[in-house]
Amino acid sequence: MDSYDIGLGNNDSTIRALANQDNVKFWESQAENLFWSERWHRALEWNPPFARWFVGGKTNASYNALDVAVKKNPHKKAILWEGEDGSNRTLTYQDLLFKVAKLANALKKLGVKKGDRVTIYLPMVPELIISLLACARIGAIHTVIFSGFSAQSIRDRVIDSKSSVIITADGGRRRGTIIQLKNVVDDAIEGLDFIQSVIVLEHTGNQITYNAKDKKWNEFVDSMEPLCNAEMLDSSHPLYILYTSGTTGKPKGVLHGTGGYLTHVFATFKWIFDIRDSDVYFCTADIGWVTGHSYVVYGPLMHGATQVMYEGALDYDTPARIWEIISRYRVTILYTTPTALRMFMKSGDKFPNSNNLTSLRLLGTVGEPINPQVWKWYFKTIGKEKCPIVDTWWQTETGAAMISPLPGIETIRLKPGSAARPVPGICISVVDDDGKQVPKDSKGYLVVENPWPGMLLTLWGNDEKYKTVYWSKYKHMYYAGDYAMQDKDGYVWMLGRADDVLKVAGHRLGTAEIESGFVSHKTVAEAAVCGVPHEVKGESIIAFVVLKDGITPTQQLKKDLVTHIRKTIGPIASPDQLFFVKKLPKTRSGKIMRRLLKAITQDEKINDVSTLEDEASVDEIKSALADLQHTLGRS
Ligand code: WTA
Repeated sequence: MDSYDIGLGNNDSTIRALANQDNVKFWESQAENLFWSERWHRALEWNPPFARWFVGGKTNASYNALDVAVKKNPHKKAILWEGEDGSNRTLTYQDLLFKVAKLANALKKLGVKKGDRVTIYLPMVPELIISLLACARIGAIHTVIFSGFSAQSIRDRVIDSKSSVIITADGGRRRGTIIQLKNVVDDAIEGLDFIQSVIVLEHTGNQITYNAKDKKWNEFVDSMEPLCNAEMLDSSHPLYILYTSGTTGKPKGVLHGTGGYLTHVFATFKWIFDIRDSDVYFCTADIGWVTGHSYVVYGPLMHGATQVMYEGALDYDTPARIWEIISRYRVTILYTTPTALRMFMKSGDKFPNSNNLTSLRLLGTVGEPINPQVWKWYFKTIGKEKCPIVDTWWQTETGAAMISPLPGIETIRLKPGSAARPVPGICISVVDDDGKQVPKDSKGYLVVENPWPGMLLTLWGNDEKYKTVYWSKYKHMYYAGDYAMQDKDGYVWMLGRADDVLKVAGHRLGTAEIESGFVSHKTVAEAAVCGVPHEVKGESIIAFVVLKDGITPTQQLKKDLVTHIRKTIGPIASPDQLFFVKKLPKTRSGKIMRRLLKAITQDEKINDVSTLEDEASVDEIKSALADLQHTLGRS
């Protein structure tokens, strides 16, 4: 197997040694790197499965992200922003702090108090970062919704979190068009009386209507005082809710705390990215996802780093756009996804080759397993065999990276396709159904054995669900829902999801969520979806729909159903293929056999169908797929 030994000149064996000795003490030593107005009296309170880190300690996320950097150097550039239309803005740490203070004061004026929720639905503009930090500054809980989600998805999330204020913009730019954000919010919140105000940023200048609850950012927020003290909060004070898909129909509100989360993010950002004062860091993730929370907002800012923030599509209006950005800002660290890399690779080497990428010194990836051939392309064509690649495994729930090469502290042996070893202080294992460790090189379920600082506090308003989803398969271990394998060197190889969660272009989507989207259409009786391998997106969605009696399956209806899914969930959930069938393969107890569906769609051998209620359903699906292959000329 190929492997590459590569380092950045760092070698600090004391970190792993200390972590192996006593991992709670070890995390305590990492927490010392943050600002605390009061020190904790207890490092960890563990009432399984609830962990509270640095109990008694007081701190503030916005203070750690801004004031600390401003004290060091107020003029240091924080954000080099580029709009999709080519416009740009530069904000220093001092600029950011003033803007955050103004928005924090505006939120206070609107009655937002410590612990209240604020929903944020913005494009990738500096005001998105400012919004998160303004909430954090006053102890409000931010809940960001990715700007690709639809009105219905926003409504569900806003109702669940009971947000009193929403921050949005007139629009956002994506692939040359304007995404209507404000109009979507208007639809989403119709009749929701608990929403008191909507702050609207003028960004694209498109026509929108202002309603009684609306406040214009450039009038209301900009008129506020640019000073606002950061409120010092308990270490476990909730910092944010981030909704993510699981195996049930409704997304789960993952709740993160402050002190533990920041400690984990701070430490991993340093170990993984080896951040230095002169670096220009560029993470391509949208802040609507956890990667953006941890490694666009909190990680880089707590380290006083300079970063590029880009508004639009990475291949718009030329496939070279990303390489032009890297060359224009002399980016030194690039953190992106396998999906994006597959897309870049497909458009050809001439685009990266015709741009100056010599500034790059470190490359990263996150979100899905990376195919070894894509890894090698990244290493050779982009990194010119000089840059380590950090393949980072983690989840919305884990808060920060759990498995990754760490060039910030050690020389590493990289194996293309493996995320390497667990980070210090994180105890990972690969186990069988009974929780017993599987032999080396065998497939099993990935679990985390000990609580860790970035660990979610719970699911918003649902402790029971938190226990069932993560802590019921194994009593004393966190169940991640991923298949994995560990080799004899302790390297972890991620083998995809073990549950009904899809990863489409790196975005997490629950099959049940999409299925209930279908069923909410008046013509649909039931539906089953599963993921099939896709060259660029990793996985794409294939849907099998049973119509209500008397409804005629037509091409138009297929189109209508796709539109319906785009409207109810968002464009990211659109199926690539949709089939009308009379029956779904189900167990006798009525559960859809998704594993079987997946096996059929991937033409795998079907072994055990003893629990199947009606074999005819399998034949019907097989023949629908055969017809499709025939049409595509692949058979
Ligand atoms: C997958 C994203 C392989 C995995 C930060 C996990 C990965 C899910 C990797 C979490 C990786 C993430 N290699 N698979 N490096 N990183 N995953 O919550 O299935 O959007 O459980 O967090 O993404 O997705 P989420």
